[in-house]
Amino acid sequence: MKILAIETSCDETSVAIVDFSGTRANPKLQVLSHLVSSQIEFHTKFGGVVPNLAKREHERNVVPLLQKALKESRIKNQESSKRNIFSSRDSLFIILDSLFDHEPELLIEFKEKIISLPIPAIDTIAVTNGPGLAPALWVGINFARALALLWDKPLIPMNHMKGHLYSAFIEDRVQKKKHMSFAQIRFPVLALLVSGGHTELVLMKKFGHYRIIGETLDDAAGEAFDKVARMLELGYPGGPAIAAAAKTQNEKRKTKNVDIRLPRPMLNSKDYNFSFSGLKTAVLYLLRNINNKKRILSLRPLIAKEFQESVVDVLVQKTLRAAKEYRVKTIAIGGGVSANTLLRQRLSHDIKKNMPRVRLFLPHVSVTGDNALMIALAAFIDGKKKAPKRVGADANMRL
Ligand code: KG4
Ligand code: ZN
Repeated sequence: MKILAIETSCDETSVAIVDFSGTRANPKLQVLSHLVSSQIEFHTKFGGVVPNLAKREHERNVVPLLQKALKESRIKNQESSKRNIFSSRDSLFIILDSLFDHEPELLIEFKEKIISLPIPAIDTIAVTNGPGLAPALWVGINFARALALLWDKPLIPMNHMKGHLYSAFIEDRVQKKKHMSFAQIRFPVLALLVSGGHTELVLMKKFGHYRIIGETLDDAAGEAFDKVARMLELGYPGGPAIAAAAKTQNEKRKTKNVDIRLPRPMLNSKDYNFSFSGLKTAVLYLLRNINNKKRILSLRPLIAKEFQESVVDVLVQKTLRAAKEYRVKTIAIGGGVSANTLLRQRLSHDIKKNMPRVRLFLPHVSVTGDNALMIALAAFIDGKKKAPKRVGADANMRL
């Protein structure tokens, strides 16, 4: 089964064409093409993602990405002479005009560059339909709906977080044209999903069964990294910037006579919820107290290190506690923050030490960020086909 997947939920435009074999519980995958176009440079100057700017960039990027993906995948054209289901060019144009009512730039690109393409031999189209930024999500959704109608293919809407969750189980380094296998999952699974918009602990007793047992009550972990990085003037995205600043502190040995200690919010609360906004405020007060630009600059690596340790302490300890209570056999992590080296090291170390029978799955760093490969994978494992006109965006979609 060949799936063409499209992801535009935030600030990466991504298209993947993946050939699946095996079963839903034990897929084998071959990535025929996987392209991610990042908009980070456009958002950097605003210190975060601007939804309408993201929408415009997706509109510009998605057609060239699809053209490139079709070319590099070397996917054949559909054999049957069947053209699209539209009786005339006029009826097609009427539908496209209404579909792309809010994406005028994409409408022009679609008419100019997509309509004339031969129909590729893919089986299904998958698209992220939430959670995410509504204007950004709609670009991918309307593009996928138009392709599904034009090529008469089924459409699978997919939850972005399921993509992050299943990426952890891809066993090999993601490489184009190589066959990759997927781990045999032993349930129950506990997944820690940590991204720019989400921080949640998800319990899975079987495929397709997701229960959120804890989540953030305010800021997501990635959001906290981004906001604190902005306060420290470290740039966007904050996660990698804070990790890099903390690393320079590790290398520096010690900062003389200073001890910076930040809170570990909700570390001892009995539930599995998180809260990171107080931690962000603690950094703000700390900076106000220091109140000296030069001194802040010199303490920046130390503050970054302590902040990162605080986030990781809470994430790791709560994950382990939940894993014990629910007697899970597997722990997985996913989402942008799962690229964090300290988080990966601490989870590996603490699980090995405290629950050696539990297996930990970490996604390869090349698939921790937003990408369409994970959407294709989740669609193969847990997707349901829907009529294109019934697929819409749900910015706050839950698992
Ligand atoms: O999953 P993702 O790419 O997009 C969303 O779905 O939100 O996650 C993006 C988040 C950003 O907040 C970014 O700062 C964070 O992931 N991130 C990191 C690291 N790399 C990215 N956070 C901590 N350490 C990292 N190395
Ligand atoms: Zn994401």
